[in-house]
Amino acid sequence: MTTISILGGTGHEGSGLGLRWAKAGHTVIIGSRAAEKAQAAAVELNAKLGVEAVRGLDNVSAALAAEIVVLTVPYSAHVSTLESVREAVQGKIFVDVTVPLVPPKVSRVQMPAAGSASQEAQNLLGPNVKVVTAFQNISAEHLKDSDHPIECDVLVCGDDKEAKTVVIQLAADAGMKAWDAGPLANAVVAEGLTSVLIGLNARHKVKSSGIRITGIDR
Ligand SMILES: NC(=O)c1ccc[n+]([C@@H]2O[C@H](COP(=O)([O-])OP(=O)(O)OC[C@H]3O[C@@H](n4cnc5c(N)ncnc54)[C@H](OP(=O)(O)O)[C@@H]3O)[C@@H](O)[C@H]2O)c1
Repeated sequence: MTTISILGGTGHEGSGLGLRWAKAGHTVIIGSRAAEKAQAAAVELNAKLGVEAVRGLDNVSAALAAEIVVLTVPYSAHVSTLESVREAVQGKIFVDVTVPLVPPKVSRVQMPAAGSASQEAQNLLGPNVKVVTAFQNISAEHLKDSDHPIECDVLVCGDDKEAKTVVIQLAADAGMKAWDAGPLANAVVAEGLTSVLIGLNARHKVKSSGIRITGIDR
């Protein structure tokens, strides 16, 4: 079992992932800009779990305390959060869930100059950090009820094969089928797909469309 810190884990996506990983037996640390907010989020998750499996810290302390660090903040907070934890995450697996949405046109794909949010993360954190991207296509609606089966697949991109294997297992622990979707350069597809799904959600009046890979034995 692993210690996983979720920066911005007080929000929708991060708290859902934290709930599921804690239920699977991992030690989960919720990170926040404010330690008290993280602690309050941890209390809520522990109440749902019925055990003390989650604690809360400020983002930098959370990043220092875990082997695997997950980032779930809005794109507007991406660079500032990365800069704040750059030293703390050296040598670690860093899972970037951020989608580079540019409100108000969130159903239009708008990639940053670096090519993708995760490429931006790799550039900023440096080569000693194993940046892997995952979960961009999983709506928080699916995550928040830990008994709800998730039928959507996860695309995992990154340049370190072992790190991707770890994240694929973490997805399985949280109840999702994940696929090695190639190098970090391919993350542009997973990040862009989220805008496509947001558009589908709006047109079909649903909250949580997703994708599923077919044609391969599962
Ligand atoms: N929600 C979904 O269904 C979903 C699905 C797939 C991917 N994503 C992606 O996952 C990421 C998180 O989404 P979310 O819905 O969980 O976001 P959220 O709930 O709006 O925000 C998550 C956390 O980010 C921190 N944050 C917010 N504004 C910030 C700022 N200006 N500076 C620094 N930190 C800030 C807050 O934590 P503190 O105040 O505690 O610091 C907040 O609780 C986004 O990039 C999103 O595109 C979301």
